[in-house]
Amino acid sequence: MKFVVANHKMNMNQETIRKYEEALQEQDSTHVKLIICPSMLYLSYFQNESYALGSQNVAPIEQGSLTGEIAAYQLAEKNVKYCLVGHSERRIRLKEDADLIKEKIKILLRYNITPILCIGETKEQHDLHRTALVLEKELISCLKDIPSEKMDEIIIAYEPIWAIGTGKLPSNQEIANSIEVIKEVMEKKYFVQSKVLYGGSINPDNIETLEQIKNLDGYLIGGASLKSDTLKTILRKIQ
Ligand code: PGA
Repeated sequence: MKFVVANHKMNMNQETIRKYEEALQEQDSTHVKLIICPSMLYLSYFQNESYALGSQNVAPIEQGSLTGEIAAYQLAEKNVKYCLVGHSERRIRLKEDADLIKEKIKILLRYNITPILCIGETKEQHDLHRTALVLEKELISCLKDIPSEKMDEIIIAYEPIWAIGTGKLPSNQEIANSIEVIKEVMEKKYFVQSKVLYGGSINPDNIETLEQIKNLDGYLIGGASLKSDTLKTILRKIQ
């Protein structure tokens, strides 16, 4: 069963989120594992069993004083089962580095929330054929010190930075190669068979092409997940 993670980022308001959630309940998504990551304010609007709930962020400390952040135990109370970490928007705009990401992963695992670790190369690194190196380096730095018995609980999302919100996608062969690199690192270094998702400019027109990639375990969708009809169209096209 493929994972489909909807990353709403900072979008939607009270009215649109209610309608969106209602529309999702009418969706038969039993053939996929649908995970909705709404804006933090709306986590409590998503408490239906037809999808799982994900967070877009978590505090890098377990509890205490950290103005503006949300702790893993609070997310767990709201029925959050998954959490994005290492998204390039946070790495670039908020300067989140591997040490911080690693702390978030550790804490999430402690609260039985599955981390979805996002990694990916820049356009420049892609053009210089450095993708494999970048992916390996990011995995190793973000997963340092994670207890080995927990390693198989982590999902990896391959998100080329240049493909996010741009309408540009790598070829299927390039995606398959990157997925292979990630799976190999996870297996050789940590002895686990990890689930690996692809994210970046997925839409109803390209999902069938992406579906031809054999080693893919699912998708992380931003813009195209914001309209329930568009998301439903994508879901219908996933095997
Ligand atoms: P996009 O975003 O689907 O709008 O490219 C993906 C993401 O940022 O996770």
